[in-house]
Amino acid sequence: MTTLSGGGTLFNRITAKDIRDTKNLKDKLPVVTAYDAMMAGLAEKAGCDVLLVGDSLGMVVLGYESTIPVIMDDMVHHTKAVVRGSQKAHIVSDMPFMSFNVSVDDTLRNASRLIQEGGAQSVKLEGGKPISGQVKRLVASGIPVMGHIGLTPQSILNIGGYKIQGKIKTEALRLLEDAKILEEMGAYSIVLELIPAPLAKLITEEVSIPTIGIGAGPFCDGQVQVFHDLMGLYPKFVPKHTRQYLNLGVKIEKALRTYLMEVKDGDFPSDHESFSMDPEMFREMLK
Ligand code: KIV
Repeated sequence: MTTLSGGGTLFNRITAKDIRDTKNLKDKLPVVTAYDAMMAGLAEKAGCDVLLVGDSLGMVVLGYESTIPVIMDDMVHHTKAVVRGSQKAHIVSDMPFMSFNVSVDDTLRNASRLIQEGGAQSVKLEGGKPISGQVKRLVASGIPVMGHIGLTPQSILNIGGYKIQGKIKTEALRLLEDAKILEEMGAYSIVLELIPAPLAKLITEEVSIPTIGIGAGPFCDGQVQVFHDLMGLYPKFVPKHTRQYLNLGVKIEKALRTYLMEVKDGDFPSDHESFSMDPEMFREMLK
């Protein structure tokens, strides 16, 4: 597996430029979401160079039905935790709903919070042409931007469901145009979510920055998945595009059932899990 450089004299962390430079590498770029310090540490230990603090945290961590209720404070809070739990990985932080579909100045203010307060190295924005001005300004201000097109979960109220995008000619052409615009505005990579594999392949060939797919087939330059989907921790919905490497939810439930039973039965804690004291002193104390 290729590991990105990072750890140089100037930066401890992998940079957006390191990620952009993976475009023509043989190995694909694996990305996983992380929302807290422990997950970030595990992912980094496993060799993951890029961690996305996705606004999917609204669903898999905070219990919302969509990503729409997630606010800037949530993103800053979880970004800080992921930064604390990792040393070398590049941390991309999602700009939540309505934090960038506002004025360019407000977009800049919100993005800077993720970088300055949160400690992220780049931000991710959902959308193409309509937010090109915001992307351009962020990049010009020194904030690296990861684009995100195809299914953009923050537009769920317009789209009406988590549906595959770009299946009809006009939509496919629009997505290709969006990708090119994001590249032109200076984005260093683009997430392609839930689009047909041949379209993802075409976009990947047509842009000079890495594409990172999720439900976009095998031809993207990298892949991103939600941690909870990979580990079987989000039973409400298992997307077709995910592969469960563990069924952790079931294992955790089973372990907790055993704990509950052992507490009820008085099997836990045992002597081994308890602390003793000098019996002489204890007798003395009772007097
Ligand atoms: O929020 C998220 O986890 C994402 C990924 C699905 C790309 O945006």
